[in-house]
Amino acid sequence: MRRKLIVANRKMNGSIPDNRAFLEGLLMGTKDFTNADFVVCFPHPYLFQAQSMLTGTPIAWGGQNMSRYDHGPYTGSVSASMLIEFGCRYVIIGHSERRTRGHDSDNSVGERFRAAVAAGLRPIFCMGETQEEFEQGLTDLVTIRQLNTLIQQVGIKNLTDGILAYEPVWAIGTGKAATPEHAQAILHFLRGYLILKDPVVGREISILYGGSLNSRNAADLLSMPDIDGGLIGTASLNTEEFVEICQTANSFVVCEC
Ligand code: PGA
Repeated sequence: MRRKLIVANRKMNGSIPDNRAFLEGLLMGTKDFTNADFVVCFPHPYLFQAQSMLTGTPIAWGGQNMSRYDHGPYTGSVSASMLIEFGCRYVIIGHSERRTRGHDSDNSVGERFRAAVAAGLRPIFCMGETQEEFEQGLTDLVTIRQLNTLIQQVGIKNLTDGILAYEPVWAIGTGKAATPEHAQAILHFLRGYLILKDPVVGREISILYGGSLNSRNAADLLSMPDIDGGLIGTASLNTEEFVEICQTANSFVVCEC
């Protein structure tokens, strides 16, 4: 049973008053939506606020990154157990904005995935090709390479401890989303690859699409059979627009695959 999942990636945005207004609007706007799940990923300092406003509500929250280590001399880093202390259930790992700026390597992502799961978090593993790779027709190759690195490190059976997110780099923050057909084709390809390796994992794993998903294209993207939800940056900064996307996700019947 794969329910639609909508994840807000607020990136390095917000303030205490702004987050309060956003969460009040989100709680009010989504109170009748029971067919889908909603998560908000905040910058670390605001997790205390998420915890105080969202505890006991259906909305979950998470971090946008974490260390592969549990504690020690890693200045500026945050561990999975710290995220757990602030009530997080999710954490984004391997986002392209971190991979491309040299902070995260393919190899460290598996260790983070394992550390997240060991602490009780659900990691959201991001992958996707650059504009150049897209133009060269390398999307399949690049995403499979990224996925294989993860599989080698954590093992196929453990993939369903987390969530996958296909986020083409050229679509992130550009206003130029992938077409629903392109996103569906890649997700179908990735799911097919996983089904060959392990039919249960392939059918059960949630795969999100991210990259300029907004209230205008949400219905077309989310209606695709292999797209289990969205990872949403820019459109999560506007409460009304984000609630509209949540409403769209809620309108889909749960897939019994
Ligand atoms: P975007 O960001 O919605 O602004 O394209 C998505 C993401 O980076 O997760």
